[in-house]
Amino acid sequence: MGKSGGKIEISNLSKIFGKRPNTVLQQVKLGKSKQDILSETGHTVGLRDINFTINPGEIFVIMGLSGSGKSTLIRHFNRLIDPTEGQIKVDNQDIMTLSKDQLIQFRRHKMSMVFQHFGLLPHRTVVDNVAYGLQIQKIPLAERTKQAETWLETVGLAGYEKQYPSQLSGGQQQRVGLARALCTDPDILLMDEAFSALDPLIRSEMQEQLLELQKTLHKTIVFITHDLDEALRIGDRIAILKDGVISQIGTPVDILLNPADDYVEAFVKDVNRARAVPVKTIMQQSVPVVSTDSLTDAFAALPPQGYLFYEREETGFQGILTRNKLEAALKVRPDGKIITEDITKIPNLMPEMLLQEAISDALKSRYALPVLNEDGRYIGDLSPESLADTLEYNN
Ligand SMILES: Nc1ncnc2c1ncn2[C@@H]1O[C@H](COP(=O)(O)OP(=O)(O)OP(=O)(O)O)[C@@H](O)[C@H]1O
Ligand SMILES: [Mg+2]
Repeated sequence: MGKSGGKIEISNLSKIFGKRPNTVLQQVKLGKSKQDILSETGHTVGLRDINFTINPGEIFVIMGLSGSGKSTLIRHFNRLIDPTEGQIKVDNQDIMTLSKDQLIQFRRHKMSMVFQHFGLLPHRTVVDNVAYGLQIQKIPLAERTKQAETWLETVGLAGYEKQYPSQLSGGQQQRVGLARALCTDPDILLMDEAFSALDPLIRSEMQEQLLELQKTLHKTIVFITHDLDEALRIGDRIAILKDGVISQIGTPVDILLNPADDYVEAFVKDVNRARAVPVKTIMQQSVPVVSTDSLTDAFAALPPQGYLFYEREETGFQGILTRNKLEAALKVRPDGKIITEDITKIPNLMPEMLLQEAISDALKSRYALPVLNEDGRYIGDLSPESLADTLEYNN
């Protein structure tokens, strides 16, 4: 592994398609538009000064409209395309310096690609398709078949070994494609619109399966899609490409809540934020928390909103103490201790919950809802107002 820790590092990468790309590079750098360059020089700007680092073990999504340069970018990673300018490092190695043989080894061992239209070999059985990469590595038949069978089982296709691709549904064929990509145990998976040809339900299942696999595999996955929902669901980070330029790189929540420009904004404006934003990103600490057992002390700590959260040292969050109940209790038990009857129960939230799951409780509540950690302790709260502020943007 490289000293910097990046799995794939892209610097100053530009790609111009056409007869004499270097002659237009200067104009590209000066920022002349893709359209102008095409009409004036006949060259197409594929990518313009791309810089980013993909971390080991992350799912890095590249998103953008058709023609924005997604495929061009991902094909630089295994040198299916050479840059006009710039550098691509994988595990801190500049891949332009690889010899022909090294490049072959690199492609066989370091990365696998999963294709949109599956790319299976029609005259080979399912198991032979999956084992293909190992066959090329000259792994003996028995061993590679065993590996392939294990992967088929992992993707839910045990029993289909002897079938041919044409006998399988689209979703099943793409599972074969995934098993084949994983069978050589590469560090990096390149997935160019891998799920785009699948119908919505199957597509969603494949997303689920990929996330499930990733929990144990920890591959570095570069995933291209033009579907924002897919990007938000599976991406640890998302890069948004427009006309060969990166508009924004960020976590799904970054992109949703702070779109960098109009282009990104146009992508995210129709997204249901409630389904993508977790509670922890918008929780605040707006309500005081006390753990005294004295009614008088609790009463003295009441903030203007007239209630506070009550937590016990040993057992964690208990509920809320309201002005009304504290006053009533103090009348009959001046100098008394807080007892169960003084506490009002309230639903609580978990930091990882999506806003969607919190909406119903939050809207029914007159109070901010506490967000508790795994030990049942207060870490923040969600008020109906901040929930509304976040969701409002949506129309
Ligand atoms: N081999 C090529 N020769 C000339 N121009 C190319 C070539 N490959 C891509 N381009 C151009 O580069 C730009 C980016 O294309 P690319 O295929 O990377 O887009 P994309 O984002 O993958 O689009 P899609 O979503 O349709 O797959 C486009 O303008 C395209 O016309
Ligand atoms: Mg493409």
